[in-house]
Amino acid sequence: MYDQNFWNERYASTGYLYGTEANGFLVENAHLLREPVLSLAEGEGRNAVFIASRGLRVLGVDASDVGLAKAQSLAKSRGLEIETEVADLGAYHPQEGHFGSVVSIFAHLPSAIRGKLYPLIEKALQPGGIVLLESYSENQLTRDTGGPKDVDMLMNVEKLRQGFPNLEPVLVREIEREVREGEGHTGMASVVQFIARRAA
Ligand SMILES: C[S@@+](CC[C@H](N)C(=O)[O-])C[C@H]1O[C@@H](n2cnc3c(N)ncnc32)[C@H](O)[C@@H]1O
Repeated sequence: MYDQNFWNERYASTGYLYGTEANGFLVENAHLLREPVLSLAEGEGRNAVFIASRGLRVLGVDASDVGLAKAQSLAKSRGLEIETEVADLGAYHPQEGHFGSVVSIFAHLPSAIRGKLYPLIEKALQPGGIVLLESYSENQLTRDTGGPKDVDMLMNVEKLRQGFPNLEPVLVREIEREVREGEGHTGMASVVQFIARRAA
């Protein structure tokens, strides 16, 4: 169950909890993105704003209205346009065959939501469209550098393969890397990285 108060309170200060610069894995692989881009659990907008800065149309979805209001402010401050939608991903139905890419950065969701959402994401991609995802892995549970303290919300490679069985994997790996993305993500971390493509 999504706790909107929890996230709205976390986003209530004027600063940006995960910074205003985009996620490193997204930046490294931005050349693979095609529009329109759907960014899941967009938060305060750092990734959507980066995607828009590459000239791509982007829709950021999150259940925190406070986060998405800050996302719009960030876009405006850079002279960019992003679309945002306040929605609970547990009840979200992206438009079928519409998106060139779906981005999911630290969108830690319970298995009950992933089980409904991921099949819809597969269908929401255009032929040849990609999913690009980075998440903390189950091995992050014992670290205090970020991420939920709930193993069900943390990922491993097998959960990703099973979550997107109809996509062709392009990159599937678990690695340790330094994540310094705002005060919310602060140091050496265990992450899974996933890029997969819908058949053209
Ligand atoms: C760790 S933050 C990551 C934010 C952003 N992706 C980033 O990397 O800066 C997780 C985000 O997931 C959102 N979220 C969690 N559960 C959600 C749900 N069921 N529906 C929509 N958003 C959700 C929260 O509101 C929060 O903005």
